[in-house]
Amino acid sequence: MIVITGATGNLGKGVIDNLIKKCGPNHLIASVRDLQKASFYQEKGVSVRKGSFDCIDDLKTAFEGASQVLIVSANTLGEEALRLHRNAIDAAKLAGVNRILYTSHMGARVGSLFAPADQHAGTEAYLAKSGAAYTSLRHGFYAESCLAMIGDGLKRGELRTPEDGPVSWTARSDLAQADAEILIDSENWNGVTLPLTAPQAWTMAEIAEIASDISGRRVRHVVVSDQEWLDAKMAAGMPKIYAELLLGSFQASRRGDFAATHPALENLLGRPARTIREVLTAFLREDPNHQ
Ligand SMILES: NC(=O)c1ccc[n+]([C@@H]2O[C@H](COP(=O)([O-])OP(=O)(O)OC[C@H]3O[C@@H](n4cnc5c(N)ncnc54)[C@H](OP(=O)(O)O)[C@@H]3O)[C@@H](O)[C@H]2O)c1
Repeated sequence: MIVITGATGNLGKGVIDNLIKKCGPNHLIASVRDLQKASFYQEKGVSVRKGSFDCIDDLKTAFEGASQVLIVSANTLGEEALRLHRNAIDAAKLAGVNRILYTSHMGARVGSLFAPADQHAGTEAYLAKSGAAYTSLRHGFYAESCLAMIGDGLKRGELRTPEDGPVSWTARSDLAQADAEILIDSENWNGVTLPLTAPQAWTMAEIAEIASDISGRRVRHVVVSDQEWLDAKMAAGMPKIYAELLLGSFQASRRGDFAATHPALENLLGRPARTIREVLTAFLREDPNHQ
């Protein structure tokens, strides 16, 4: 039995759909916070169990009988994220799960300027100390996060960013498929994975060029100071904590934290990964399937 947490989220749903295609629904359990939100699993034939990372007892029950649990990291910021992930690891241990898998991030390291990468490193360290067999999936930076960060600018024709560095933006749907492949063959994936990324890394200036090419009109890239970028985001209504988090992603990219690329993802997929050009084309042409 394989339990997937975050099963009402984009990645969790994608992992489950890929596992259904490969092995059918019978040995899958979707672990969710809100059972109502997960009612669509009934027609897919997937069992659903309730479990929030806030409650170790409920989670332990949700994980009972599982050989593997995929802990999809919570979309929560700061120390709270670490606390929740520790709870999930503790619950999996208490339930006697054979292998714990966790969705980490490329460039995860203590002290990263990108706060989630620091929290992922903390969770990885906890997982390594847990004594359980584990796999930490070092996901590439979601291409969808790139769209969320700069999509408006690309559509407006002027992309204003702080100084950046190359990022190997990777489609979340490819990562969901790769995670499913790893779950099927997890004994061969012990410890921290190689970076699971698309094969090329791009700077913001290059992304503006690609967007210009796709849309047929010039998208200018303008580099602004960190403070100017932060002030503009907050003036536009972005909460400070979120604006600082995004600024941290630019600062970490400058250090080269997200520049790595590796064929591991494409080897798992058995096909080319989705390129940033494909993702941008769908977005700029408003394809509702770009997710
Ligand atoms: N690699 C990257 O570039 C990147 C970018 C963005 C995010 N991420 C990470 O990847 C994760 C998965 O991505 P996604 O696109 O699937 O995110 P998503 O659509 O926002 O889904 C997040 C899932 O986590 C669940 N969750 C949140 N807090 C929880 C808790 N306390 N206990 C149990 N479940 C909880 C949510 O449940 P509800 O449906 O009940 O809210 C949801 O199912 C994110 O949560 C984030 O940690 C990675």
